[in-house]
Amino acid sequence: MDKIVIEGGARLSGEVRTGGSKNAILPLMASSLLVDGCMTITNVPRLRDIDTFNALLRHLGADVSADYKAGVLKIKTSAINGTEAPYNLVKTMRASILVLGPLVTRFKKARVSLPGGCAIGARPVDLHLKGLIKMGASVSVEHGYVNVTAERLKGANIYLDIPSVTGTENLMLAAVYADGKTVIENAALEPEVTCLAEALVKMGALIRGIGTDTLTIEGVSELKPIEIKAIPDRIEAGTFMAAVAMTRGNVLIKDCPLEHLDALSSKLREAGAEIRSEDGGVRVIGNWPIDSVDIKTAAYPGFPTDMQAQIMAMMTIAKGLSVVKETVFENRFMHVSELKRMGADISIDGRTAVVRGVKGLSGAPLMATDLRASASLILAGMVAEGKTEVSRIYHLDRGYERIEEKLKKLGANIERIKE
Ligand code: EPZ
Repeated sequence: MDKIVIEGGARLSGEVRTGGSKNAILPLMASSLLVDGCMTITNVPRLRDIDTFNALLRHLGADVSADYKAGVLKIKTSAINGTEAPYNLVKTMRASILVLGPLVTRFKKARVSLPGGCAIGARPVDLHLKGLIKMGASVSVEHGYVNVTAERLKGANIYLDIPSVTGTENLMLAAVYADGKTVIENAALEPEVTCLAEALVKMGALIRGIGTDTLTIEGVSELKPIEIKAIPDRIEAGTFMAAVAMTRGNVLIKDCPLEHLDALSSKLREAGAEIRSEDGGVRVIGNWPIDSVDIKTAAYPGFPTDMQAQIMAMMTIAKGLSVVKETVFENRFMHVSELKRMGADISIDGRTAVVRGVKGLSGAPLMATDLRASASLILAGMVAEGKTEVSRIYHLDRGYERIEEKLKKLGANIERIKE
């Protein structure tokens, strides 16, 4: 397994481009199962999760060609011959559950391994299943798989107890071929959900309320394949913004979706960073001392849970005390023990962490546990005194394309060591 080695102290400078959004591309890939033909997705980075989803689509009979140099995925679905998503693929990527809706609504059945929990929480899919049952599907769970069948889904009124991102996406994907009208209330508002809805409309779906918490979908009989460009990855962009703020850097971030980062930007400004649009990108300037800020994660447009670990790393060297409340997942503090090994002063009480800023961190050997926790350890290593080694960085490669190369180009003293 590879590891990343960082010598802390560099101030980031230069220019970096944000890649396409992992969490927009995965549901777009799932939508290819709804059509007979060739879906083209552009602005696609090389990520482990996308490779895994490619493998899943191939397992179902799709012909997938990925040209990562050009950032283009072509998914041909005329020969789909399977409706089962096996455990070995689903266990490495929970977003595999997104094939459920398309398979049931187009092929009348699906057998998908239950994703199971992951480092950040139990991650149930009960809301996905309850919605499908409301649409007339019969659902059974056995041997760790969920079996869903429906002669034809019918439109239904669905209220999501939690504005689940992939729950909203799965049910929208199921509703496009259902008989009649489906209303999804308390739908997730994340930009990735909007990107999927707009793509489905381009494919011929009838969807109203896009961008609101109430989506109305009128079932149609056929959709056509399209070419769609993925929106930029707001979490990758946010991670770079935090890195620049922490290292007193000065960087121009191209393709940075600032309009999707209001909550993060206001917190970074409160912490003393300067953020402004410039030359079609976003200029970020970090200033020390860093002021401590309180964070409470929430569904979009609230502060993104996927940025909590990265901002906590920043707060470890801020002036004063920060309170970080994680309201979305029950166990998303896996990075805390590793940050404390670097000298951070953090105490946890349930879903709340209190971070007392320290003068500085010291480099240490660390272990990544999940995607965004890995990112926070890389950020901490960049400001720590001495050397930091982060192992198990396959977690990082799930959602960041060659992050060490992008950071190195900005002046970070960082290397990937093949073990
Ligand atoms: C999506 O996960 C993202 N993944 C996650 O990004 C992100 O952290 C999360 O949304 C929250 O923004 C993708 O889009 C592929 P949820 P998802 O369903 O859809 C509970 C990353 O770092 N819940 O919105 O799985 C759930 O346990 C990843 O890129 C139920 O109880 O998240 C959680 O507490 C990590 N029952 C809350 O809702 C359900 O049926 C929000 O989960 C579904 C969810």
